[in-house]
Amino acid sequence: MGSLPHPDLHLPLLILFLSLTPLASSTPDYDAEELLRSANEDKEWLVSVRRRIHEHPELRFQEHNTSALIRAQLERLGVPYSFPYAGTGVVAQVGSGEPPVVALRADMDALPLQELVDWEHKSKNDGVMHGCGHDAHVAMLLGAAKLLNQRQSKLKGTVRLIFQPAEEGGAGASHMIKDGVLDGVEAIFGMHVDYQVPTGSIESHPGPTQAAVCFFEAKIEGKAGEAAKPHLNVDPLVAASFAILSMQQLISREDDPLHSQVLSVTYVKGGSSFDETPPFVEFGGTLRSITTEGLHRLQRRVKEVVEGQAAVHQCKAFTNMLEEDFPFYPAVVNDAGLHDHVQQVGALLLGRDKVKTGKKIMAGEDFAFYQQLVPGIIFATGMKNERAGSVYPAHSPHFFIDEDVLPIGAALHTAIAELYLNQRSS
Ligand SMILES: *[C@@H]1O[C@H](CO)[C@@H](O)[C@H](O)[C@H]1NC(C)=O
Ligand SMILES: [Zn+2]
Ligand SMILES: [Zn+2]
Repeated sequence: MGSLPHPDLHLPLLILFLSLTPLASSTPDYDAEELLRSANEDKEWLVSVRRRIHEHPELRFQEHNTSALIRAQLERLGVPYSFPYAGTGVVAQVGSGEPPVVALRADMDALPLQELVDWEHKSKNDGVMHGCGHDAHVAMLLGAAKLLNQRQSKLKGTVRLIFQPAEEGGAGASHMIKDGVLDGVEAIFGMHVDYQVPTGSIESHPGPTQAAVCFFEAKIEGKAGEAAKPHLNVDPLVAASFAILSMQQLISREDDPLHSQVLSVTYVKGGSSFDETPPFVEFGGTLRSITTEGLHRLQRRVKEVVEGQAAVHQCKAFTNMLEEDFPFYPAVVNDAGLHDHVQQVGALLLGRDKVKTGKKIMAGEDFAFYQQLVPGIIFATGMKNERAGSVYPAHSPHFFIDEDVLPIGAALHTAIAELYLNQRSS
């Protein structure tokens, strides 16, 4: 833990949002073009930083080299930072050092995935790949650090830049919070590159936007024996079959059809013989809900149904929500006022036709942990570009970034923070 100056003003949210004035009236002379020009001048540097990170991807909580690279870049830029947060996390700060404090977040970790793209800057670490774009996220936030630092004198408050480990399944955000990263912060913004949104466009969505996610496993125990004498055995396969089918009803019969939930059993393991029933069967999968409460309910019912069906068939059941290995992620709920802000800044910077309202997705995102404590929004920064080969979804081994997104993302981060502070002070 380092020692950030923590402004300790906590404004009631009601006052905060009543005091946000329309963007146009508070920023008649905001020079979006100059900001974009500056960001574009940095493109070569942004690309080289992103490629270095891409070549050396690191898994959750092991982002040591990535963290060192971020710190070296911040030092070169003359931007003060604190380290470590959550092991490898880095937190930089630009501006007056006084409230209000607005936060920008980038995640740093890669995926356990073998890159299948053949190009000059392919991952050099076998079985590890930046297949979700977090290499680009780091580069874009470093870009913002540089731009904000250049524009330091214009900042009407403080911008905190959060480089966070372990978004992919490690709940790195919750560890950053424990280490105090949100102290004094009144709003937080994150962005994620998106292969379905064209480069140069953004999409944001207000309210519940991404699912609360957990993983589960279950084991049903019976009594093994000769298949020819089923009456002497207790068959866990039949019990598991009923359990898996019964679980399908939890969404279709128990959840509001207008609410969004997913229950997917993704594996079943048990038995190895034609003429013997097995001692136990294991299965598991994922549960998702567009609300955090919905996921808690689903978890409870999965346990009840699996244990109930096991009992019906004279078996014993054990369910495990795997909190240790895969922490529960709450749902992403984007603040409506900050959604408006993102839309307005996006229009100012990229053009009105380049800004759309996005859609909900059932993928998880640990940005949700921040949003449980302060208003926040994570939105999609487009990088769909057929010519650049940027047409594959995140977590695909073919995932490929259109690097034109880098200066755009850096400029967006910068304008979002700068204009947020302007509005707060006008
Ligand atoms: C981290 O950097 C060191 C020193 O350059 C290197 O030996 C090591 O392989 C790197 N680790 C990863 C995971 O890239
Ligand atoms: Zn991901
Ligand atoms: Zn991601």
